[in-house]
Amino acid sequence: MTTRVAILISGSGSNMVTLVNAMQSGDIDATPVVVISNNESAAGLDKAKALGVDAVALDHRPYKGDRAAFEADLNKILVHYNVDLICLAGFMRILTPKFPNQWKRKILNIHPSLLPKYKGLHTHQRAIDAGDENGGCSVHLVTGELDGGPVLGQVSVPIKENDSADDLSARVLVEEHKLYPAVLAEFINNT
Ligand code: GRF
Repeated sequence: MTTRVAILISGSGSNMVTLVNAMQSGDIDATPVVVISNNESAAGLDKAKALGVDAVALDHRPYKGDRAAFEADLNKILVHYNVDLICLAGFMRILTPKFPNQWKRKILNIHPSLLPKYKGLHTHQRAIDAGDENGGCSVHLVTGELDGGPVLGQVSVPIKENDSADDLSARVLVEEHKLYPAVLAEFINNT
């Protein structure tokens, strides 16, 4: 039976598009069943619809910081779509530990740093400021610890002299688009 995948986004959704393409072309043995955004105006929602995938907005703002209530409604959507696996792809909401506990080993995330370095935000600037030779990206399992779950795959990207955070981010994003589908394919084949 095919693995039913939900992809959670907040913005442009370029990683989401590469995952959907890889599933729809048969490179990944899975089906993208729903794309969910906490941001109603995320450009990725229209991209998902154009690819024939249901797109749902669940605005976090009316929950006024009540993360548990937001996650309870998020969970209802995931259950409605009978989801097996969740891919976070530029999803900019911090989850409570309860959520990954409900979906143990069922949530993957892509993070734009060489974890365990630079959990959280502004990863590229932090790598540049530290004088690192490389930035990069990691796909990891999501646990209760922010950006802290086991790393499933990682790619390094050399930092060039005079790189801005935007320069580095653009080159890392190219690698994210290769890494995430490759790791997802392997994860699904091995589970
Ligand atoms: C990516 O760099 C991802 O690693 C980070 O946010 C960005 C999302 O880009 N967490 P997109 O929405 O997939 O285009």
